[in-house]
Amino acid sequence: MERIVSLCKRRGFIYPSSEIYGGAGSVWDYGPVGVLLKNNVKGAWWRAVVQQRDDMVGLDAAILMHPRVWEASGHVSGFSDPLVDCLQCKQRFRADDLAGDRCPACGGELTEARPFNLMFKTFMGPVENEATVTYLRPETCQGIFVNFKNVLVSSRKQPPFGIAQIGKSFRNEITTGNFTFRSREFEQYEIEYFVPPEQADQWFEYWVAERLKWYTDFGIAADRLRLRPHREDELAHYASRCTDIEYGFPFGWSELEGIANRQDFDLRQHQEYSGRDLTYFDEAEKRRYLPHVIEPSGGVDRSMLAFLVDAYEEIPGGRGSAGAEVESVLRLHPRLAPIKAAVLPLVRRDGMPDRARAIYDDLRRHWFVEYDEGGSIGRRYRRQDEIGTPFCMTIDSQTAEDGTVTVRDRDTMEQIRVSADKLVEFLRDKLGEC
Ligand code: GAP
Repeated sequence: MERIVSLCKRRGFIYPSSEIYGGAGSVWDYGPVGVLLKNNVKGAWWRAVVQQRDDMVGLDAAILMHPRVWEASGHVSGFSDPLVDCLQCKQRFRADDLAGDRCPACGGELTEARPFNLMFKTFMGPVENEATVTYLRPETCQGIFVNFKNVLVSSRKQPPFGIAQIGKSFRNEITTGNFTFRSREFEQYEIEYFVPPEQADQWFEYWVAERLKWYTDFGIAADRLRLRPHREDELAHYASRCTDIEYGFPFGWSELEGIANRQDFDLRQHQEYSGRDLTYFDEAEKRRYLPHVIEPSGGVDRSMLAFLVDAYEEIPGGRGSAGAEVESVLRLHPRLAPIKAAVLPLVRRDGMPDRARAIYDDLRRHWFVEYDEGGSIGRRYRRQDEIGTPFCMTIDSQTAEDGTVTVRDRDTMEQIRVSADKLVEFLRDKLGEC
């Protein structure tokens, strides 16, 4: 993990937030290539679960919601961890993380365990009092539930159908760590799939298989993924079933995404708290019911971390000239790779930079492409390998003679010659629509 963290900082994937002030606890910023990778992960998810399906629509609900939402959802009363405070050094710990009855930091006396709500509190409007308290959302799905009727009417969908959303969530986590795995500000991608009650089990199985396949489709090794069904005693208050998709991180098997059967818990709660009718009337069957909900809920930051970890390979001694230092390659799926191709003039003379610039300008109309003319060609290849660029295109003396360039494959290091005017076609063939 340390080497991944170091690569992420060095190459511009992920930085600690507010680093020049010593960092903000467990909050992260995505750098120039990190934001591209993250956008590609979100794009791949959106394409698979919204664009390519007839039974799904998208939503982008606000982070700030009416405070009653969080009463109805159970977050005001129940979204808490039992915490103890040290009377001496004032540090706070999760009660269930402690081995003994003294403070693990200074040995001081501890208070009794008290529930600590994980939601970030804020105030809506100019007055700061109890009546204006609201929260930064701790999950995106409540924005979907409260919009269920709006979407139903405006999109003319009928159960079984789903609403998908990607967005920021905030939790004042007590136990943070493992890089971006557990942060206080993170992004979720969530689907709420509304079904007739009697179809809930069959759709639950469907979504577990579908979501597992998505991770392998984008390159994660199948043997680094596993399904973990929740035991009865660990199910959330709203769920009758839940299965986690876990990834084998260097710090152990950990959850990427959970697929839950939320039954009609949320629609029923919001119906009661808002006084609005959230039932669906099935014209064909002449029956009215509250749909049940299957929820595949994942973390963008976590899956991005899994894609990074899974793609990362170190080659002691390097892949090229013997005796080189350790080389690292990020074997990201080409559709996820931040930069699709690098255009490199072999040397900075003989018209090569001009020819390379023309190719670069042509390719960047379609994809994120980099131009790099600094340093030896070997160093430039290695830099691209480290950020996962699938193809390097080198403009050399032969380019002036026959119009071809060398295309080097990141994974095999195989080099072929491709005509400069066929490079768009070449990349389109390799990358598909992305
Ligand atoms: N709506 C259901 C829900 O929010 P969850 O298991 O609490 O369920 C869903 O969260 C996903 O959100 C998790 O599988 C994880 O990928 C991501 N997630 C949750 N807390 C996180 C945190 N503190 N940092 C990063 N990702 C987190």
